[in-house]
Amino acid sequence: MKPLALVFDAYGTLYDVHSVIALCERFWPGKGGAVSQLWRTKQLEYTWQRSLMQRYVPFSSITEDGLRYACAALGLELGDAQLAALMQQYLKLSPYPEALPALEALRGRKLAILSNGSPDMLDPLVAASGLDKVLDAVLSVAEVKIFKPDPRVYQIAVDRLGVPKEAIGFVSSNCWDACGAKSFGFRTYWINRAGAPLDALDARPDHTIARLTDLAALVG
Ligand code: 2OP
Repeated sequence: MKPLALVFDAYGTLYDVHSVIALCERFWPGKGGAVSQLWRTKQLEYTWQRSLMQRYVPFSSITEDGLRYACAALGLELGDAQLAALMQQYLKLSPYPEALPALEALRGRKLAILSNGSPDMLDPLVAASGLDKVLDAVLSVAEVKIFKPDPRVYQIAVDRLGVPKEAIGFVSSNCWDACGAKSFGFRTYWINRAGAPLDALDARPDHTIARLTDLAALVG
C-alpha cells in the first residue's frame, strides 16, 4: 500500500543538529565539534532515561541540560549569554538542503513532523525554515509526556492525522527511531546519510536510503 501520509522526525532528519558547531567553535575554539557531539548524545540519553524514570520534562529543558553536561564534561565555561545564544540557535537549525525539495516532491499526501521536540522549540524552528509551507502538521511528544521510541508517541500520528498505521510512512535518520516506528507498525524509511550499521533492535526499517530526495521514487 502506498503511504497516505508521511511523517518525519525533525532533529537529525529534516534539521542538522550539528549546525550549532560554528557557534560552539566561536565560544570554544577547537572544541566546537566535541561540544556538539556530546551535547546531542546526552540530549538523547536523557530522553530515554527520563522516559524509563517516568520523569518527563520538555525537550527544551533536556536540550539545555545536555549542553550544560557537555560543557562540564569537557571542562568548558558556559556563561549565561553563551547558553542563551546556543538555545536560540537551536530554534534556527539549518534544514538539510534536500529537505524542502523532498517535501515538495511528496505533496499530494499528508506530510507531518513527529518529534521529541517541545512546541516551544518546534514551532519557531519550522517557521524559520519555511517548511511550515509544505507541512500539514507538527506533532510533539509533549501531548503524551514520554519520548520516542515509546509506542504512545507514534500513536499520536495515527490519532492526529486520522490515518491507520499501515498507511503511514515514517522517515528518520535516527536508526533507533526508525526501528521504534517499525516496531509500532509504520512502513519505515531510514535516512542513512553516514552509511552507519543497522541498530540491533529486532526491527528492521523497510527501506534504507541516503537522502530525503530518494523518497519520492519509493513512495510513488
Ligand atoms: C526528534 O525526535 C529524535 O530528536 C529526534 O526530532
